[in-house]
Amino acid sequence: MCGIVGYIGYRDAFPIIIKGLQRLEYRGYDSAGIALFDGSQINLAKTKGKVEDLKKKAEGISQKGSIGIGHTRWATHGVPNDVNSHPHYSNSGELVIIHNGIIENYEAIKQELTKRGYKFQSDTDTEVLINLIEEVKKTEGVKLGKAVQIALNQVVGAYAIAVFDIKKPDEIVVAKLGSPLAIGIGEKEFFIASDASPFIEFTNNAVYLEDEEMAIIRLGKEIKLRKIKDDSVAYPRILELQMNLEEIEKGGYDHFMLKEIYEQPRAIKDTYRGRLLADQGLIRMAGIDQNMEKFLNANRIIIVACGTSWHAGLVAEYIFEDLARIPVEVEYASEFRYRNPVITDKDILIAISQSGETADTLAAIKLAKEKGAFVFGVCNVVGSSIARETDAGAYTHAGPEIGVASTKAFTTQITVLTLIALKLAKAKGVFSESRYHEYLTELETIPSKVEKALQSNTLIEIIADVYKDSTNCLYLGRGYNFPVALEGALKLKEISYIHAEGYPAAEMKHGPIALIDEHMPVFVIATKKGHYEKVVSNIQEIKSRKGKIIAIVTEGDEQVRDLADHVIEVPETLESLTPLLTTIPLQLLSYHIAVMRGCNVDQPRNLAKSVTVE
Ligand code: F6R
Repeated sequence: MCGIVGYIGYRDAFPIIIKGLQRLEYRGYDSAGIALFDGSQINLAKTKGKVEDLKKKAEGISQKGSIGIGHTRWATHGVPNDVNSHPHYSNSGELVIIHNGIIENYEAIKQELTKRGYKFQSDTDTEVLINLIEEVKKTEGVKLGKAVQIALNQVVGAYAIAVFDIKKPDEIVVAKLGSPLAIGIGEKEFFIASDASPFIEFTNNAVYLEDEEMAIIRLGKEIKLRKIKDDSVAYPRILELQMNLEEIEKGGYDHFMLKEIYEQPRAIKDTYRGRLLADQGLIRMAGIDQNMEKFLNANRIIIVACGTSWHAGLVAEYIFEDLARIPVEVEYASEFRYRNPVITDKDILIAISQSGETADTLAAIKLAKEKGAFVFGVCNVVGSSIARETDAGAYTHAGPEIGVASTKAFTTQITVLTLIALKLAKAKGVFSESRYHEYLTELETIPSKVEKALQSNTLIEIIADVYKDSTNCLYLGRGYNFPVALEGALKLKEISYIHAEGYPAAEMKHGPIALIDEHMPVFVIATKKGHYEKVVSNIQEIKSRKGKIIAIVTEGDEQVRDLADHVIEVPETLESLTPLLTTIPLQLLSYHIAVMRGCNVDQPRNLAKSVTVE
């Protein structure tokens, strides 16, 4: 969960690496570092803190050179401090490395290297790895590429690494297992990065390394790909990137999170564009069409995901069971992978992931595949590990999500999953033609209804100001909006550090109601469809205990308005589509509260966008 960047070519490497690190800061922002080769020596600067701090620190070194590597860190081994920051030197000072991932058996290797006289400055697994490479290089008398390959066959864990050897200054060696690594291919220059955002203004051509592949990137030569296990040659698969610069910049918004909240009407439309053909009564999704028999004959669907994506999975459970009448189980990927689940070849596993790199979700996929299940991915990042590992899938097409807190990924995941459920409902014949048509046409109105929900922003800012100093909050919803309550609570806690819990509203009386007093804000989703009267009763229970009620209601609702302290309206829609609208005010509320509390909304403490380690 770190970001890595490298450059080898004819331009000044320093600005490319710094800008690239800034774009990758969503992956980690505990500390940062850079190493540049100026033609005769390596100049290295690293520091605890952000890339902005690194820029200041780097004023003290020569910034010359057109070869360099840089790193932005989310600490795994060793606290964030200057010494533990990457890049790390080998003992001789000749090799330098950046690493994203974890070397699990580093302790044993460290002990062995210590016996052979190696000294370690930091507490990191990465410094152990670079010294192992150095030891192999010395004892086996091999070149850097071979030494990296031999060393990697001795380690257990996950990595995306870039290694530079002062004695071989025209090349960088990179390798990948479990953590992403892209190589941008320009004219007489190469870029290395955890994703394509650092080099998108320079080239649209990229090679994404597969797991257990390494590449030797040599100035003026074609890149050479090898399998780490057996040294066999692999062939570079050059992809043309779709991303553009505008998508990864803030475009006038104060934060990426706000930009991404406001992008949702467009993102949802992009998700169904070309797939939803309401006038023809059609939903086209190649991944489903080609595997329809499997879906129709499946005993059940198991959904695995983490965090916000898991919440989208919970919404999907309601949608699939309600619309398509297929049994669904939703699992935390981290639990599923370790609990010896019963899976057969009649099961379908749907893995949901924005980044497509989440380690637990990837492991759950591998396990399900081993047991014979058909695995379908719902990912946002094209070419990501999960997209490649699954048997089939559907991209969400939300565009890059840079704010660490997921927003447009959630609503676009729900959109894709709704399309799938509708397709299956139609194919199974559980939907009448008119009901199917009603859903298709209503889905097309969602972007403009999200637009309308966004218009409550000023009111939401006022409400945020009232509750910004709260220490605890409750979020309640029922049915389709129970997962939205969980998501609302997660959004608030992760970016504002206010303790928040989501519950199914009816669970209140089984415990959480004891928390209610005049200081407790309770956010209740009380839209007209689905258990409305029951939610109104829950609101009355809160009111009689003097809790503060902030209700998300359907436009024109009077009943809840009379009971609640604040109401935020969303347009009316079909019950199963309400999460696409009720989520919007909760995202905005969390955003404004966090900004008012002075929190860094795009890069909340201790979090990283892409969780590529367990
Ligand atoms: C919360 C958030 C996380 C992610 C989770 C899974 O706002 O972003 O909870 O949803 O880490 O990430 P992906 O979807 O990339 O697998």
